[in-house]
Order: sequence, then C-alpha cells, then structure tokens
Amino acid sequence: MIVTIDGPAGAGKSSVALKLAETLGFFFLDTGAMYRCITLACMQAQVDLEDPAATLDMAQCCQIDLAKGSVALNQIDVTRQIRTPAVAKSIKPIAENPEIRALMVQQQRRICAGQDCVTEGRDQGTVAFPDAECKIFLTATPEERARRRYQQLLVIGIDADYDEILRQQNQRDENDSNRLAGPLIAAPDAFVVGTDGMSEQQVHDKLLEIVRLRIVDNTSESVTK
Ligand code: DC
Repeated sequence: MIVTIDGPAGAGKSSVALKLAETLGFFFLDTGAMYRCITLACMQAQVDLEDPAATLDMAQCCQIDLAKGSVALNQIDVTRQIRTPAVAKSIKPIAENPEIRALMVQQQRRICAGQDCVTEGRDQGTVAFPDAECKIFLTATPEERARRRYQQLLVIGIDADYDEILRQQNQRDENDSNRLAGPLIAAPDAFVVGTDGMSEQQVHDKLLEIVRLRIVDNTSESVTK
C-alpha cells in the first residue's frame, strides 16, 4: 500500500508522516531530503545551481540512502547538513529542473516497489504515485505554519523573526505552486486535511483513521471483484 502525504512547507508533514509510518509499520520516504541532497552535492562540488545540465549530471551521480531517521549522500551521513538554511535557500533551481524531477520520481518508485510506504513531498499523489491507494493533502493557514516554525526555533534557542519567517514561507509556497514540473497541488482524489489548531498527535490520529478507512475500502473492492 502507498500512502502519499503532500502539502506546503511547515504543514507538519515530516514529523506526522514519520510517526504514521512507524504506527503502520510502513517504510517512510522523505522526498524533500532527496532534493536537499542533490542541492548539497552541487554546493559541495561548486556546480552552478543555475546550470540545468550540470546539476542533472550531478544528480545522476548521487547515491542517496534514506534509512529510518537518517540520510546518507554517497555513503556520508548528511542528515543535519541538508537541513541548513543555506541548502534550503539554494533548492529552487534543483526542484524546478524537470529532468531532475523525473529522475527523482523514478528513484521514488523504485524505492517503494514491493513494500508498503508512506511517502511525503509535494508531488507524490499527483506525479510519483497517481494510483496510490491513499492520498492525503496536509495543509494549514500560512500564519499557523509560520507560528509553528517560530515556536520550534524559540524552543531550540534561536531568536527568530515571525514576519521574516512568514515572508520566506510565502515565497516558498509561491515557488512550489508555480513551477511547471511537479507543482504543489492536491490530487483530485486526495483527502484534504487542514491542521490549524490541531496537535501533532491529533493530526496523526486523523491520518491513521483515513488510512484505515482506505484499507477497508480496498479490501471490500477486491472482494467484490
Ligand atoms: O519538504 P522539504 O522542505 O524538505 O522539501 C525541500 C524542498 O524540496 C522544498 O523546496 C520543496 C522541494 N520538494 C519538491 O519540489 N518535491 C518534493 N516531492 C519534495 C520536496
């Protein structure tokens, strides 16, 4: 079974998707980590991020391993490095490159072949797994998402600026929604879940309920056939 979870930055997808995968005993695929790895590899090798052919060459040479909770690029642990603001700021041309996206989608399908997966990103229910048994689009208002991010930073001792977080997030939403290849959009058959005012546990429980409903539906469909 494939469960896709798409949605904008800051909707709380990663933590909930990981937890949901653990509850279900499914493999967890963090597709944002793949784009982050390619960006980091280009930065490390000083490849011009605005040169689509050069970044594609780099993407073709990257070996990305996504084990539970950690990310390795060419066998080196980059779990923390890919989360730095420098990487986040440089991702745009990589995520917009249609050939890199096609390569990533191919790898995502290969990873999920033959195993139950929760896969999380922007285009999982629309492009990578249009036939997924269960599609979820997780969202929240921009203000709520920025407020969550602001609080996360405060907790780890970073004195952040809420207005700046909101501004950068709006910019990311615009980039994600307007690119031609794999834009951020809810699949027509996705369950749209707004998470304003919900705790992480409540979101997890809601998604689990949706997945269980889909399992029952799928079982009765195959019995009818
Ligand atoms: O989910 P995240 O913040 O780790 O994603 C990092 C970047 O990668 C973000 O700018 C959107 C992009 N991305 C994408 O274009 N397609 C995906 N399937 C996943 C992430």
